[in-house]
Amino acid sequence: MKVALAYSGGLDTTVSIKWLQEKYNAEVITVTVDVGQEEDFEEIEEKALKSGAIKHYFINAREKFAEEYVAKCIKANGLYEGVYPLSSALSRPLIAQEVAEVALKEGCDAVAHGCTGKGNDQIRFDVTFSALAPGLKIIAPVREWNMSRDQEIEYALKNGLPVNPRKSRFSIDENLWGRSIEAGELEDPWIEPPIEAFKYLKPLDETPDNPQEIVIEFEKGIPKSIDGVKMPLEKLIMELNIIGGVHGFGYIDHIEDRVVGLKSREVYEAPAALLLIYAHQDLEKMVLNKRILDFKPIIEHKWAEMVYSGLWVDPLVKAINAFIDETQEEVTGEVRIKLFKGSARIVGRIAEKPLYNPEMITYTSKSVFDQKAGEAFSRLWGLPSTMYYTYRKQTIKQS
Ligand code: ARG
Repeated sequence: MKVALAYSGGLDTTVSIKWLQEKYNAEVITVTVDVGQEEDFEEIEEKALKSGAIKHYFINAREKFAEEYVAKCIKANGLYEGVYPLSSALSRPLIAQEVAEVALKEGCDAVAHGCTGKGNDQIRFDVTFSALAPGLKIIAPVREWNMSRDQEIEYALKNGLPVNPRKSRFSIDENLWGRSIEAGELEDPWIEPPIEAFKYLKPLDETPDNPQEIVIEFEKGIPKSIDGVKMPLEKLIMELNIIGGVHGFGYIDHIEDRVVGLKSREVYEAPAALLLIYAHQDLEKMVLNKRILDFKPIIEHKWAEMVYSGLWVDPLVKAINAFIDETQEEVTGEVRIKLFKGSARIVGRIAEKPLYNPEMITYTSKSVFDQKAGEAFSRLWGLPSTMYYTYRKQTIKQS
């Protein structure tokens, strides 16, 4: 049997290589996909080959991840349960697709991933694999072997696998859209995440004493520049992770409902994701009409639920994206944000084609709004209530 394994270089997937050989007598091809995690990919390749992989693939998918996944999340203001910008969730279908492509090219019988049976990631991998490459068997060693972390370490050391068990006490999943931090003492929801869990976020007592203002420019809902400097989306996101993090902005800590029914305490740092979604939402209010603004969050909620629960490949997501794209035609303009001590305050916005109209709204003599229209409007607007009070004889009695 020949297996293509989604390989991160961590403990679970390294142990998986050896385990797949022993249990399935498999030849293992490892596939590492770069979605913006800052890792030494040469070291990861070495590790894979040392652990017994017969071949290793490294795929740089940063640009694809930014342009085809993250960009859609920005347009959809994608926040699961109102707070989580779906960083891990968005990366899985892309990684799964890359792994499936390698598997088919290499004539593999199976694909494998290192996800546990408790999380959402297994669903995202499984669903994508079976939709895109239904002929391949899916193997999830961690779901099958039932080893604790300590047993995995013991297994690795016994088999001479190059693992570094002391690397981190947290389980971290990272890409350019955010870092998910789980396990260790974070399993106690009362305990504040220690500062060493974070890469971008500075502790609040070390952030600058003066606010910093930045301007983000959007074109049809997609961020294009910071302070007038145009850059590719993946670079712009990385830049904002640093700028936001310096000011301690981008912290997320919430109790999350997983697809499998469990509640978990999830900690994230996602400075760029939050800055971009907040700025984008603000700009939308300048340019979209009230009814679209009213309706779009319903669709956004469904989008986030679908992406979170592993259904990126479902045609509904494509259809929702088409609706959202239609709304983004005029979402072009700039948003001013002031960063200070863990907060990001939106202090200004300007749009190329705003529906905000100063001539209509102004209280000065320049106003072109016909105030007389207000009288008839109020009468008809309140008519259902007026009728109720009149016919139910509930109007105020004259005394
Ligand atoms: N709870 C998040 C999600 O389901 C993060 C998952 C992080 N994955 C990990 N292997 N640590 O999207």
